[in-house]
Amino acid sequence: MSDLLITQFIGQTALEKLEQASITYRQNQKAKSFDRDQLIEATRGVTAVICLLTDTFDDSVMDALPDLRLIANVAVGYDNIDLDAATQRGILVTNTPDVLTETTADLAFGLILAAARRIPEADCFMRAGKYSRFELYPEMLGADVYGKTLGIVGMGRIGTAVARRGALGFNMPILYSGHRPNQEAEQSLNAQFVSFDALLAESDFISINVPLTSDTTHLFTYETIKKMKPSAFLINTARGPVIKEADLLKALEEGIIAGAALDVFEFEPEISSKMAQMSSRLVVTPHIGSATRETRQNMADIAVENVLAFFSGHRPPTLLNPKVWNAR
Ligand code: DGY
Repeated sequence: MSDLLITQFIGQTALEKLEQASITYRQNQKAKSFDRDQLIEATRGVTAVICLLTDTFDDSVMDALPDLRLIANVAVGYDNIDLDAATQRGILVTNTPDVLTETTADLAFGLILAAARRIPEADCFMRAGKYSRFELYPEMLGADVYGKTLGIVGMGRIGTAVARRGALGFNMPILYSGHRPNQEAEQSLNAQFVSFDALLAESDFISINVPLTSDTTHLFTYETIKKMKPSAFLINTARGPVIKEADLLKALEEGIIAGAALDVFEFEPEISSKMAQMSSRLVVTPHIGSATRETRQNMADIAVENVLAFFSGHRPPTLLNPKVWNAR
């Protein structure tokens, strides 16, 4: 019997740390993520699990796992885990904040540039041998980024890091919307807290940086997108269901906005054939916000630190539900 289940390979260094602490583990050896039944089957009997956002721990999954005491998610977002249900059952839940903030902001900004300057399309154009001479008005004219208004939906850690790149690197005025003002962003980046509608109407680029909750699911629909400027771009590196994807595609087809760049998808990992075929106005990447060697290693290290703390009777460092710990 093992102490721990790891639902995907998390790197050799992380495994060595577990071995040094004599923690026995079993690991998903398949190239694919577990489905629900496989997850339950594999997790049965262990007290801790290191998992990813593809592993759903909801009420019924947790019901089937009465021995489970720790869920260590290798992600900052934890919408794959029902935190209240875990808390009710006395299961500790941890995530991996901070270490991926700058990496994800780099990708968000990369997507802004890729969409505005049509970099993926230009790459395909070159590879197709279509570049025959320099022209002043080629078919691939893009939009300037420098000095344009950047709207941040959700000025948390990642939103602030995206805003910093825009304000300090590209001289962009920053607008933001959300539940509450962020004084630090206002002071250091001159960011302006505005209503969601004002953000939609005034931004040239909108970066989505909110967690997925019932409030943010389908925050962007056809109606919302219609409030954006026709020259604006929508960038999503947060969670797919924040955008109602069919509505976005319709808006792009109708030229309601200039373009979009998505790293996350409503029905991830599936994308519709319509989306796959839309090669202009839309840039897509496979959820690589945190995908650098350094950051993925740091995320795995944090998950392992949480597991090591738990097995040695200490409070896991990035605990999301302290109520469970305090009740022990
Ligand atoms: C997160 O951490 O929530 C990312 O989406 C996965 O890297």
